[in-house]
Amino acid sequence: MKIKKSIFTGVMASIAAGGLLLSNSAIAQNAWPTKSISLIVPFAAGGPTDSVARLIAVPMGQALGQTVVVENVPGAGGTIASTKVARATPDGYTIYLHHMGMATANALYDKLPYDPLTSFEHIGQVADVPMVLLGKKTLPANNFKELEAYIRANGSKVTMANAGPGAVSQLCGLLFQSRLGVKLTNVPYKGTGPALTDLLGGQVDLLCDQTTQTIPYIKDGSVKAFGTTTLKRLPAIPNVPTLDEQGLKGFEVKVWHGMYAPKGTPKPILDKLNAALKKALNTPDVQKRLADANIDIVPVGKINDKGLKDHLDAEINKWGPIIRKANIPD
Ligand code: MLT
Repeated sequence: MKIKKSIFTGVMASIAAGGLLLSNSAIAQNAWPTKSISLIVPFAAGGPTDSVARLIAVPMGQALGQTVVVENVPGAGGTIASTKVARATPDGYTIYLHHMGMATANALYDKLPYDPLTSFEHIGQVADVPMVLLGKKTLPANNFKELEAYIRANGSKVTMANAGPGAVSQLCGLLFQSRLGVKLTNVPYKGTGPALTDLLGGQVDLLCDQTTQTIPYIKDGSVKAFGTTTLKRLPAIPNVPTLDEQGLKGFEVKVWHGMYAPKGTPKPILDKLNAALKKALNTPDVQKRLADANIDIVPVGKINDKGLKDHLDAEINKWGPIIRKANIPD
């Protein structure tokens, strides 16, 4: 009897404790956020991913009532940051902005310590960014035809910057080289922010970069633009032909961004993050600054977990064969 009673008391006590724990966690989820939120960016400060993150961090923070602090975790084309986020505590205080490297890393790395589809919660798609093939302003070539001739004459003496394996600048640069059947000297950086600084300074010859920061430099002639990676010309730089129209038929790299959280982040918190992201993207200032850089905000129906997860899945399947066929990296 005594034993039974103590078992009963014990069971009741643990049910009560469980209830307390449950209600404590429900209270924590309701009160969230009570401190600043870290928005991890997988590339160096001053680059395109960092800029998009900083642009949306402020209005997201305003919507959530707490500061969203951008934290740059560069290296290995974004996979270091992805690993860090996959292993972070899923309490809503760590979120992540990454681009299509989340999909291409699968084909570029033998073994990733995370799975893009199952190691994260998918908050929503963010924006699509075009790219431009850029050259330093002292490069003797003035258009794509001249660039091709210059590359064929100089081969591996020509240097091309990128942000490491898994970065879109690397993918774009290697696809370009594969289409021309040439091998240049590829120079990795921790992001295209520092790579662009070196292109502007004339330390590297070429860089395939997103339009996020490059349009003013193209317009004022600080860099040469040899072609866009879109199938249509960009409204902000209508005089720059597409690579497709200059002979690289079907050459298209459009960089999409997604926002993630560690797997297991509670649904009520994910819902609040998603609402804050939508609100941030709807801010007139954010819309204007993205439009000025020819960045397209995705339709609102894609700014959700299904929109991002379906797109990520499709992109993993799309890029795997392209990367393998082009023998990237060889
Ligand atoms: C960056 O933010 O530095 C870029 O998105 C890197 C890249 O993928 O090329």
